[in-house]
Amino acid sequence: MTDYSAKRYGPRLNEMMKDVLMEPDVHGPEAHYHMVRGGKDLRNITIWESGKVGKEYIKTYGHYHVGAISETYWIVYGEGITIAQKRMAGSDGEPIDDEIEEIRIVKVKMGDAVYMPRGWAHAAVNIGKTFFVTADDSPVNFEDVEPSSLPGHADYEPIKKMRGMAYYIVEEHGEPTLVKNPAYKKVPDAEIEDWRPEFAKKE
Ligand SMILES: [Fe+2]
Repeated sequence: MTDYSAKRYGPRLNEMMKDVLMEPDVHGPEAHYHMVRGGKDLRNITIWESGKVGKEYIKTYGHYHVGAISETYWIVYGEGITIAQKRMAGSDGEPIDDEIEEIRIVKVKMGDAVYMPRGWAHAAVNIGKTFFVTADDSPVNFEDVEPSSLPGHADYEPIKKMRGMAYYIVEEHGEPTLVKNPAYKKVPDAEIEDWRPEFAKKE
């Protein structure tokens, strides 16, 4: 068996996060989060730094999946909010990047799990004072050029183009609050829901 152990780790640096921050000119930590890739079998671990960039909580970049890949996120430690969104389809069946059909935003903590159906982009923020840590079961091909930082199954381009997910999650008077991303043309109203067991159920 090939030994991939030295290829597992990748930090997500501020430089790349500028693409998707609500306030891109506010300097965040050098690394916003840390990825350790194990793929479908070993799982992938993500560790979010605690804190904010301006008003926005430290978050993951967000991505759609290439192909029909669903994914479960298990919350291993800390407190966060997951955000998932599904694009509208045009008459040609192709997704429209700036029109969102459905959105789900869920407050989660250690022990919760959230299922991300295929076709839904997903990201998460750390709202706690500790690291926020998740495990997930998305596949990784270690023959990719940057398997940890830029796995081939993840499509970051539509989120880059839209400067983030459809909502930014910010702290307002000490509470997590949603701010619509003005780059999107159509976004359903949304609120932050408390986690329920049904959010972990697969399709
Ligand atoms: Fe994913």
